[in-house]
Amino acid sequence: MAAEEATTPRGPVVRVAALAGLGGLLFGYDTGVISGASQFLAERFDLGDQALEVVVSAVLAGAIVGALLAGQLVGRIGRRRTIMLAAVLFVAGALGSALAPSDEVLLIARVGLGVAIGITSLAVPLYISESAPAANRGALVALFQLAVTVGILVATLVDEAFSGVSEGWRWMLGLAVVPAVILFFGMLSAPPSPRWLVSKGRIEEAADVLRHLGAPERVPALMAEIREDLAGTGAGRLRDLLAPALRTVLVIGVAMAIIQQITGINTVIYYDVNIFERAGFVDASDAIWAAVVVTTMNVLATFIAIRYIDRVGRRRLLIVGMTGMIVGLVALGLTFALPSGEEAASALSLVALVVYVVCFAFSLGPVVWVLIAEIYPTAVRGPAMSVATMANWSANLLVALTFLTLLDELGEAETFWLYAGITALALVFVVLRVPETRGKTLEEIASTLGTSGDLDQPGR
Ligand code: BGC
Repeated sequence: MAAEEATTPRGPVVRVAALAGLGGLLFGYDTGVISGASQFLAERFDLGDQALEVVVSAVLAGAIVGALLAGQLVGRIGRRRTIMLAAVLFVAGALGSALAPSDEVLLIARVGLGVAIGITSLAVPLYISESAPAANRGALVALFQLAVTVGILVATLVDEAFSGVSEGWRWMLGLAVVPAVILFFGMLSAPPSPRWLVSKGRIEEAADVLRHLGAPERVPALMAEIREDLAGTGAGRLRDLLAPALRTVLVIGVAMAIIQQITGINTVIYYDVNIFERAGFVDASDAIWAAVVVTTMNVLATFIAIRYIDRVGRRRLLIVGMTGMIVGLVALGLTFALPSGEEAASALSLVALVVYVVCFAFSLGPVVWVLIAEIYPTAVRGPAMSVATMANWSANLLVALTFLTLLDELGEAETFWLYAGITALALVFVVLRVPETRGKTLEEIASTLGTSGDLDQPGR
């Protein structure tokens, strides 16, 4: 079958993707909110630097566990119910941290939120990818990334709004209850993933869901493809990942998941105010507003990916975006190499950071989630995504824990040039290894990459 041409997605499938995408909003909000809340938490619970670092990174550690659990859950209870479970955890985590009477309760609640975020980062892209038509699967999964960026922006604004209010941190942490409740009830009425239904032998239901989600005339051919792809495959356990036919896609997925983090995006998302203060923004509130500009651009530039990912393809977005990220990082390093205190240097640092973030927002941000939700065959998609997503959160934790030390030990300019160098190497990897998946059904991707059918068959 030829690659399907991109069209503007419409109807039920967009509603389903937008609803599941709310999980992304919670992911962004709950990772972003802590930067504004942390100083109040430190005062309220009398936390030293190290204790605070533990509370801040608890979410990331929880997310690694969540990604591990989700790999099994999506196969056993299904993609949709896994998202509902995450929604319940989001509610509990938000209430627990907002009402926390002690730092121990706060820590447990933050780990719980992390688990919910980890589950979401696997289950939502997976669910959308399996429900979407080939022609706009990229744009629909990119909605998840859009929601992540909106969540980060909302968190920044909420932090600002409540920073002058007594016990304002309780509101900052607690407000996440609202989207979590909507996510739970929304998913109650959303259909299960059609591919998951086929894997459970629920063929008629799967065909009904596909008809409901769009293009009924394509359903018979697509059902045949999905059944053929799943023929003879097992339950999708972690050990099935050892099949030699999967090696290449596993390496690509894990590498891309790590690349998304070690090219430095969360140094900006978690520490932007800090970076701007170091870059010479003397007034703290100017630094905060510069951070709002960057976070807003992160949202807006994601629309570039939504518009183009199914038109120009994943590879081109990655190549153009990563090249721009390198330019932004090199320029950012230069602004620190200039004599300090020059106004031009702080203005230039804002421009450089915007270039970097915009280029991330239409490339590595969305494209990595899209790729890892589409390059694995349906039979092992859950466990394979689990490995990639765990790698993503582990790399995220590593960067979060080392960035401030790097700034102090290496120097600001050198740190950003280090990220530029890593991005350049990563770009070479993308050019050489990442396949183009635009417009193909998940089953066509599996057959092109040689991963469809029974992976245990001898002679493969
Ligand atoms: C990444 C997050 C990051 C966010 C920024 C996501 O794709 O996984 O780690 O904070 O983009 O927009």
